This record gives sequence, structure tokens and C-alpha cells, in this order.
Amino acid sequence: METNLKGKRALVLGASKGLGFGIAKGLAEEGASVAIASRTIEGSKAAADKIGAAPLVCDTGDADQVDALAQELTAAFGGIDVLVLNSGGPPPGKAQGVSSEQWRASFEAMFVNLVRLTDHLLPGMIERKFGRIISVISSGVIQPIPNLAISNAIRPALVGWGKTLASEVAVFGITVNAIAPGRIATDRLKQLDAANAERTGRSVEDVATAARAGIPAGRYGEIDEFGAAAVFLASEKASFITGSILRVDGGQISAT
Ligand SMILES: NC(=O)c1ccc[n+]([C@@H]2O[C@H](COP(=O)([O-])OP(=O)(O)OC[C@H]3O[C@@H](n4cnc5c(N)ncnc54)[C@H](OP(=O)(O)O)[C@@H]3O)[C@@H](O)[C@H]2O)c1
Repeated sequence: METNLKGKRALVLGASKGLGFGIAKGLAEEGASVAIASRTIEGSKAAADKIGAAPLVCDTGDADQVDALAQELTAAFGGIDVLVLNSGGPPPGKAQGVSSEQWRASFEAMFVNLVRLTDHLLPGMIERKFGRIISVISSGVIQPIPNLAISNAIRPALVGWGKTLASEVAVFGITVNAIAPGRIATDRLKQLDAANAERTGRSVEDVATAARAGIPAGRYGEIDEFGAAAVFLASEKASFITGSILRVDGGQISAT
């Protein structure tokens, strides 16, 4: 498949490892000029060096860093064509008893500042009549995941915003989509399995075995499989797909 991503400028947030890195790698393999951001320059650089990307710093919880990143991108690259909105996962826990401070901090890092960055970069996409905005969400948006209340509550905001934005900018050749991971093998998933094991008094292996049993494919996904979905949505081949959620879950989500 010809993706026509050669020479396109891509920014992937939260990309020093895990899903963001899988996306950055996939885009770089297609010839895009990729910038990787994470909270530390060391983390971004180590990842960027593996795929010939540019390393940048941005904590999505910090509006000033988001503004600075947008300025830096505009100065260094003249704009961004493919924007991947990804962020660190929130702490696991029940819906009850989350402090207001935690709700606000998570909402800033997982929604407000992602929208803020998009607003900085959208005018350039509109001018160039091309853009791809891809949000990394979660299967929890479709089927809420027990003990992940913050994720279940906040990620739907990105979906509602993205769907609304999609209809506003489609006429400019800009698509806005989301990818919902089921269980993809990353450090985050290891942490969640460990937390689940501690909470339920089981071994981590028992937790992971039970989780795999709930996935029709019988295994966790790989970051390259996740990245491939983003590459497709970023490509010119996906030009008529917008406002959609693409599941990458090995069949895990049972709802239609
Ligand atoms: N893996 C899955 O199966 C799965 C399923 C559903 C949803 N998700 C969600 O998808 C997102 C990525 O997950 P993952 O599995 O790739 O997690 P991960 O392996 O923990 O990687 C997270 C990445 O985000 C960066 N990061 C963390 N906090 C950040 C912040 N405040 N600002 C900017 N970058 C930050 C990390 O780098 P630094 O720490 O160096 O900043 C790292 O590069 C998370 O929101 C996660 O909850 C994942």
C-alpha cells in the first residue's frame, strides 16, 4: 500500500516507549519526518535515535510546555501534518474517592492540553489543506474497564471533541480519528497487571493469563500492530475516514 507519508511532518506525544513509540516507528518507516516528545529529553533522544526521529520535550500536564512545543515545531519544521495525541496513563483506581486535584490534573494532561496543542497546529493544517489528527484512547471508552475510573471518565471527552472537530475540518482535507487499544504489551500494561495482582491477591502471571483468555486472539497485541493502524489513518489512503474509532484489540471488546 502506498501511504504517501514520505516527507510528511509528524509529531507523536508520549513516544519515548510503548504505543507512542510504535506509532513513531511506523511513521518513520514510511518516510515521514518524525518528532518524538516525552517528559525528558533523555527518554525522547534514546527513542528518537532508534528510528532517526527528532527528540523533543513535552509534559502534557504542563500548558507552558505545550505552548513552547508548538512554537518550536513551527520554527523548526514549519508546521505538523500528522499529529498524534497520546499521553501517559492515569493511576488505576475506583470511581469513588478520587480527589478533585487528581481529576483536574488528569483532565489537563489527557484532554485540555492535547486540545490546546491541536489548536496551535490546526491553522497550518487548514492553510495547507491537509492534516491527520489521531488520538490514542482506550477500549474503556466503549466498554469501561474495572478499576480504571479516571481513564474511563476522561477519554470519552477526546472522542466527543474529536468527532465534533472532524465535522468542522473535513472540508480542509483534515481527518480526526481515534485508536482504541485493547491490551497491547507495554510497560503500562505490565504496571496495570501488577497493580491488579496486588489488589486481588493473585500472581502477575495469573492475572495476565486470565486477561489473555478474554482476548479472542489469545494474546496481547504488539506495539508494531498498534502503530500500523496509526500509519493507515495517517496515510492518504485513509482520506475519507474521519470521526471514527478504530479498535486494535484482537477482538477483545465484545460490544458491536
Ligand atoms: N498499552 C495498552 O494496552 C493501553 C490500553 C489502553 C489505553 N492505553 C493508554 O495509551 C497511552 C499510552 O500507553 P502505553 O501503554 O504506551 O504507556 P507507556 O508504555 O507507559 O508509555 C507512556 C509514554 O508516555 C510518556 N508520558 C508519560 N506521561 C507523560 C506526560 N505527562 N506527558 C508526556 N508524555 C508522557 C512516557 O514517557 P516519559 O515517562 O519519559 O514521559 C512514555 O513515552 C496511555 O494513556 C495508556 O493509558 C494503553
